Amino acid sequence: MRAIVVHGGAWSIPDDAVDDHIKGCREAAIRGYERLKDGSAIDAVEEAVRYMEDDPTFDAGYGSFLNSEGEVELDALIVDGKSLRFGAVAGVKRIKNPISLARTVMEKTEHHMFVGEGAEKLAVKIGMKLCDNSELVHPRELERWRKGGIKDIFSTVGAVAMDSDGNLAAAVSTGGTPMKLPGRVGDTPLIGCGAYADNLLGAAASTGYGEAIMRVVLAKKAVDLMEKKSAPFAVKEALLIMKEKTGGLGGLIAVDSRGNIGFYHTTSRMAFAYIRNGDIRASVSIF
Ligand code: GLY
Repeated sequence: MRAIVVHGGAWSIPDDAVDDHIKGCREAAIRGYERLKDGSAIDAVEEAVRYMEDDPTFDAGYGSFLNSEGEVELDALIVDGKSLRFGAVAGVKRIKNPISLARTVMEKTEHHMFVGEGAEKLAVKIGMKLCDNSELVHPRELERWRKGGIKDIFSTVGAVAMDSDGNLAAAVSTGGTPMKLPGRVGDTPLIGCGAYADNLLGAAASTGYGEAIMRVVLAKKAVDLMEKKSAPFAVKEALLIMKEKTGGLGGLIAVDSRGNIGFYHTTSRMAFAYIRNGDIRASVSIF
Protein backbone atom coordinates (compact mmCIF):
# COMPACT_ATOMS: atom_id res chain seq x y z
CA MET A 1 0.00 0.00 0.00
CA ARG A 2 1.20 3.49 -0.93
CA ALA A 3 -0.87 6.61 -0.38
CA ILE A 4 -0.50 10.38 -0.31
CA VAL A 5 -3.07 13.09 0.42
CA VAL A 6 -2.34 16.81 0.03
CA HIS A 7 -4.37 19.93 0.77
CA GLY A 8 -4.00 23.48 -0.49
CA GLY A 9 -6.02 25.20 2.23
CA ALA A 10 -9.62 25.30 3.44
CA TRP A 11 -11.38 28.64 2.97
CA SER A 12 -13.78 30.40 0.61
CA ILE A 13 -11.46 29.84 -2.37
CA PRO A 14 -12.60 32.36 -5.04
CA ASP A 15 -14.11 30.88 -8.22
CA ASP A 16 -11.29 32.29 -10.35
CA ALA A 17 -8.67 30.54 -8.18
CA VAL A 18 -10.31 27.08 -8.11
CA ASP A 19 -8.58 25.68 -11.22
CA ASP A 20 -5.13 26.73 -10.00
CA HIS A 21 -5.80 25.12 -6.62
CA ILE A 22 -6.83 21.83 -8.23
CA LYS A 23 -3.86 21.89 -10.62
CA GLY A 24 -1.38 22.70 -7.83
CA CYS A 25 -2.71 20.02 -5.47
CA ARG A 26 -2.73 17.42 -8.25
CA GLU A 27 0.87 18.15 -9.23
CA ALA A 28 2.01 18.17 -5.59
CA ALA A 29 0.37 14.76 -5.03
CA ILE A 30 1.99 13.34 -8.17
CA ARG A 31 5.45 14.57 -7.15
CA GLY A 32 5.03 13.25 -3.62
CA TYR A 33 3.75 9.91 -4.87
CA GLU A 34 6.78 9.57 -7.18
CA ARG A 35 8.99 9.80 -4.07
CA LEU A 36 6.99 6.97 -2.49
CA LYS A 37 8.22 4.67 -5.26
CA ASP A 38 11.87 4.86 -4.18
CA GLY A 39 11.78 6.85 -0.94
CA SER A 40 9.96 7.12 2.36
CA ALA A 41 6.75 8.73 3.59
CA ILE A 42 8.92 11.57 4.94
CA ASP A 43 10.47 12.13 1.48
CA ALA A 44 6.99 12.19 -0.06
CA VAL A 45 5.42 14.75 2.27
CA GLU A 46 8.46 17.03 2.06
CA GLU A 47 8.41 16.89 -1.75
CA ALA A 48 4.67 17.62 -1.98
CA VAL A 49 4.85 20.53 0.45
CA ARG A 50 7.97 21.98 -1.24
CA TYR A 51 6.07 22.00 -4.53
CA MET A 52 3.20 23.95 -2.97
CA GLU A 53 5.60 26.36 -1.24
CA ASP A 54 7.02 27.21 -4.68
CA ASP A 55 3.57 27.52 -6.32
CA PRO A 56 2.30 31.08 -5.61
CA THR A 57 -1.31 29.85 -5.68
CA PHE A 58 -0.95 28.80 -2.06
CA ASP A 59 -0.39 30.48 1.31
CA ALA A 60 3.06 28.96 1.90
CA GLY A 61 6.53 30.02 0.78
CA TYR A 62 6.35 32.33 -2.27
CA GLY A 63 2.87 33.84 -2.51
CA SER A 64 2.09 33.71 1.22
CA PHE A 65 -0.26 36.19 2.85
CA LEU A 66 1.52 39.25 4.25
CA ASN A 67 1.53 40.34 7.88
CA SER A 68 0.31 43.77 9.00
CA GLU A 69 3.71 45.26 8.14
CA GLY A 70 3.63 43.85 4.61
CA GLU A 71 6.17 41.10 5.32
CA VAL A 72 6.20 37.33 4.83
CA GLU A 73 6.73 35.27 8.02
CA LEU A 74 6.62 31.51 7.61
CA ASP A 75 5.89 28.45 9.77
CA ALA A 76 6.37 24.74 8.97
CA LEU A 77 6.29 21.32 10.64
CA ILE A 78 7.21 17.78 9.57
CA VAL A 79 6.41 14.66 11.64
CA ASP A 80 7.76 11.11 11.37
CA GLY A 81 5.17 8.55 12.47
CA LYS A 82 7.78 5.82 13.02
CA SER A 83 9.94 7.63 15.60
CA LEU A 84 7.45 10.36 16.65
CA ARG A 85 10.29 12.78 15.98
CA PHE A 86 9.41 16.10 14.43
CA GLY A 87 11.04 19.30 13.19
CA ALA A 88 9.45 22.74 13.17
CA VAL A 89 10.31 26.33 12.32
CA ALA A 90 8.22 29.37 13.27
CA GLY A 91 8.22 33.03 12.29
CA VAL A 92 11.05 32.57 9.79
CA LYS A 93 11.99 34.96 7.01
CA ARG A 94 14.31 34.65 3.99
CA ILE A 95 13.69 30.88 3.74
CA LYS A 96 12.24 29.75 0.40
CA ASN A 97 11.32 26.25 1.59
CA PRO A 98 10.67 26.21 5.35
CA ILE A 99 9.55 22.56 5.18
CA SER A 100 13.08 21.49 4.24
CA LEU A 101 14.52 23.51 7.11
CA ALA A 102 11.99 21.81 9.42
CA ARG A 103 13.23 18.44 8.15
CA THR A 104 16.80 19.51 8.88
CA VAL A 105 15.77 20.42 12.43
CA MET A 106 14.29 16.92 12.83
CA GLU A 107 17.17 14.99 11.30
CA LYS A 108 20.28 17.05 11.97
CA THR A 109 19.77 18.61 15.41
CA GLU A 110 18.95 17.41 18.90
CA HIS A 111 16.07 19.87 19.03
CA HIS A 112 12.56 19.98 17.64
CA MET A 113 11.74 23.62 16.99
CA PHE A 114 13.61 26.75 15.90
CA VAL A 115 12.27 30.29 15.62
CA GLY A 116 13.21 33.52 13.85
CA GLU A 117 16.87 34.47 13.66
CA GLY A 118 18.14 31.20 15.17
CA ALA A 119 16.35 29.28 12.43
CA GLU A 120 18.01 31.48 9.80
CA LYS A 121 21.42 30.83 11.38
CA LEU A 122 20.77 27.10 11.26
CA ALA A 123 19.81 27.38 7.59
CA VAL A 124 23.09 29.14 6.81
CA LYS A 125 25.03 26.56 8.83
CA ILE A 126 23.67 23.68 6.76
CA GLY A 127 24.33 25.52 3.50
CA MET A 128 20.79 26.59 2.68
CA LYS A 129 20.77 29.77 0.60
CA LEU A 130 18.84 32.63 2.20
CA CYS A 131 16.75 34.76 -0.14
CA ASP A 132 15.79 38.39 0.22
CA ASN A 133 12.47 38.35 2.09
CA SER A 134 10.92 40.52 -0.65
CA GLU A 135 11.47 37.63 -3.11
CA LEU A 136 8.72 35.74 -1.25
CA VAL A 137 6.20 38.55 -1.81
CA HIS A 138 3.84 37.95 -4.75
CA PRO A 139 2.34 41.10 -6.43
CA ARG A 140 -1.19 39.72 -5.79
CA GLU A 141 -0.52 39.70 -2.04
CA LEU A 142 1.07 43.16 -2.08
CA GLU A 143 -2.09 44.44 -3.75
CA ARG A 144 -4.26 42.70 -1.13
CA TRP A 145 -2.14 44.14 1.67
CA ARG A 146 -2.35 47.68 0.22
CA LYS A 147 -6.15 47.31 0.25
CA GLY A 148 -6.07 46.31 3.92
CA GLY A 149 -5.97 42.51 3.52
CA ILE A 150 -8.92 40.16 3.33
CA LYS A 151 -10.90 38.68 6.16
CA ASP A 152 -11.90 35.11 7.01
CA ILE A 153 -9.08 33.45 5.18
CA PHE A 154 -7.31 30.58 6.83
CA SER A 155 -4.93 28.80 4.59
CA THR A 156 -1.95 26.45 4.77
CA VAL A 157 -0.64 23.59 2.66
CA GLY A 158 -0.19 20.06 3.94
CA ALA A 159 0.51 16.44 3.06
CA VAL A 160 0.19 13.04 4.73
CA ALA A 161 1.61 9.82 3.32
CA MET A 162 1.99 6.09 3.87
CA ASP A 163 4.94 4.28 2.27
CA SER A 164 5.21 0.62 1.27
CA ASP A 165 6.73 -0.25 4.68
CA GLY A 166 3.64 1.15 6.41
CA ASN A 167 5.47 4.22 7.71
CA LEU A 168 3.39 7.38 8.07
CA ALA A 169 4.42 11.04 7.89
CA ALA A 170 2.78 14.46 7.86
CA ALA A 171 3.96 17.94 6.84
CA VAL A 172 2.45 21.44 6.83
CA SER A 173 3.67 24.89 5.81
CA THR A 174 2.05 28.34 5.90
CA GLY A 175 2.43 32.09 5.72
CA GLY A 176 -0.30 32.26 8.39
CA THR A 177 -3.30 34.55 8.29
CA PRO A 178 -3.46 37.79 6.26
CA MET A 179 -2.56 40.94 8.23
CA LYS A 180 -1.42 38.88 11.25
CA LEU A 181 0.56 40.87 13.79
CA PRO A 182 4.35 40.44 13.40
CA GLY A 183 5.50 37.50 15.52
CA ARG A 184 2.07 35.81 15.57
CA VAL A 185 2.42 32.04 15.27
CA GLY A 186 -0.58 29.83 14.51
CA ASP A 187 -1.19 26.11 14.69
CA THR A 188 0.97 25.05 11.78
CA PRO A 189 4.40 24.58 13.43
CA LEU A 190 2.98 23.23 16.70
CA ILE A 191 3.19 19.47 17.10
CA GLY A 192 -0.28 17.93 17.34
CA CYS A 193 -1.95 21.13 16.16
CA GLY A 194 -0.74 21.60 12.56
CA ALA A 195 0.09 17.92 12.03
CA TYR A 196 0.70 14.62 13.78
CA ALA A 197 1.70 11.09 12.76
CA ASP A 198 1.95 7.81 14.64
CA ASN A 199 2.53 4.61 12.66
CA LEU A 200 0.21 2.70 15.01
CA LEU A 201 -2.78 4.99 14.38
CA GLY A 202 -2.52 7.41 11.47
CA ALA A 203 -1.31 10.76 10.19
CA ALA A 204 -3.25 14.04 9.93
CA ALA A 205 -2.57 17.57 8.67
CA SER A 206 -4.73 20.58 9.55
CA THR A 207 -5.72 23.80 7.84
CA GLY A 208 -8.03 26.54 9.05
CA TYR A 209 -8.28 29.07 11.83
CA GLY A 210 -5.06 28.54 13.79
CA GLU A 211 -6.31 30.08 17.02
CA ALA A 212 -9.13 27.47 17.15
CA ILE A 213 -6.97 24.56 15.95
CA MET A 214 -4.48 25.17 18.78
CA ARG A 215 -7.23 25.13 21.39
CA VAL A 216 -8.34 21.60 20.50
CA VAL A 217 -4.91 20.28 19.30
CA LEU A 218 -6.72 19.27 16.14
CA ALA A 219 -4.34 16.92 14.29
CA LYS A 220 -3.57 14.89 17.43
CA LYS A 221 -7.28 14.71 18.21
CA ALA A 222 -7.97 13.27 14.75
CA VAL A 223 -5.11 10.75 15.07
CA ASP A 224 -6.29 9.67 18.53
CA LEU A 225 -9.80 9.12 17.14
CA MET A 226 -8.26 6.72 14.58
CA GLU A 227 -7.77 4.20 17.37
CA LYS A 228 -11.48 3.39 17.00
CA LYS A 229 -12.50 4.95 13.69
CA SER A 230 -11.16 4.99 10.15
CA ALA A 231 -9.63 8.21 8.80
CA PRO A 232 -12.78 9.59 7.05
CA PHE A 233 -14.83 9.40 10.27
CA ALA A 234 -12.00 10.62 12.52
CA VAL A 235 -11.36 13.82 10.56
CA LYS A 236 -15.05 14.69 10.43
CA GLU A 237 -15.52 14.13 14.16
CA ALA A 238 -12.41 16.14 15.09
CA LEU A 239 -13.53 19.13 13.00
CA LEU A 240 -17.09 19.02 14.36
CA ILE A 241 -15.71 18.94 17.92
CA MET A 242 -13.58 22.02 17.11
CA LYS A 243 -16.58 23.83 15.65
CA GLU A 244 -18.77 22.98 18.64
CA LYS A 245 -16.18 23.89 21.28
CA THR A 246 -14.64 26.99 19.70
CA GLY A 247 -16.82 28.03 16.76
CA GLY A 248 -13.66 27.78 14.62
CA LEU A 249 -13.63 26.38 11.09
CA GLY A 250 -11.01 24.38 9.25
CA GLY A 251 -10.07 21.30 7.27
CA LEU A 252 -8.17 18.05 7.76
CA ILE A 253 -6.57 15.41 5.57
CA ALA A 254 -5.51 12.03 6.95
CA VAL A 255 -4.41 8.50 6.28
CA ASP A 256 -4.91 5.81 8.91
CA SER A 257 -2.65 2.85 9.65
CA ARG A 258 -4.78 0.61 7.40
CA GLY A 259 -4.32 3.00 4.45
CA ASN A 260 -7.80 4.57 4.51
CA ILE A 261 -7.84 8.17 3.32
CA GLY A 262 -9.85 10.94 4.97
CA PHE A 263 -10.58 14.57 4.15
CA TYR A 264 -13.19 16.92 5.56
CA HIS A 265 -13.74 20.63 6.02
CA THR A 266 -16.16 22.91 7.86
CA THR A 267 -15.13 25.92 5.74
CA SER A 268 -17.02 26.51 2.49
CA ARG A 269 -14.25 25.01 0.31
CA MET A 270 -11.08 22.94 0.59
CA ALA A 271 -8.53 22.10 -2.12
CA PHE A 272 -7.11 18.59 -1.97
CA ALA A 273 -5.73 15.70 -4.00
CA TYR A 274 -4.87 12.11 -3.25
CA ILE A 275 -3.23 9.12 -4.88
CA ARG A 276 -3.76 5.66 -3.42
CA ASN A 277 -2.15 2.66 -5.09
CA GLY A 278 -1.94 4.68 -8.34
CA ASP A 279 -5.52 6.03 -8.40
CA ILE A 280 -5.59 9.84 -8.43
CA ARG A 281 -8.28 12.35 -7.50
CA ALA A 282 -7.88 16.14 -7.31
CA SER A 283 -10.70 18.55 -6.48
CA VAL A 284 -11.94 21.59 -4.64
CA SER A 285 -14.53 20.18 -2.28
CA ILE A 286 -17.52 22.53 -1.83
CA PHE A 287 -20.06 22.50 1.00
N1 GLY B 1 -3.70 27.56 9.90
C1 GLY B 1 -2.76 28.55 9.62
C2 GLY B 1 -2.66 29.61 10.62
O1 GLY B 1 -3.63 29.91 11.30
O2 GLY B 1 -1.61 30.18 10.73
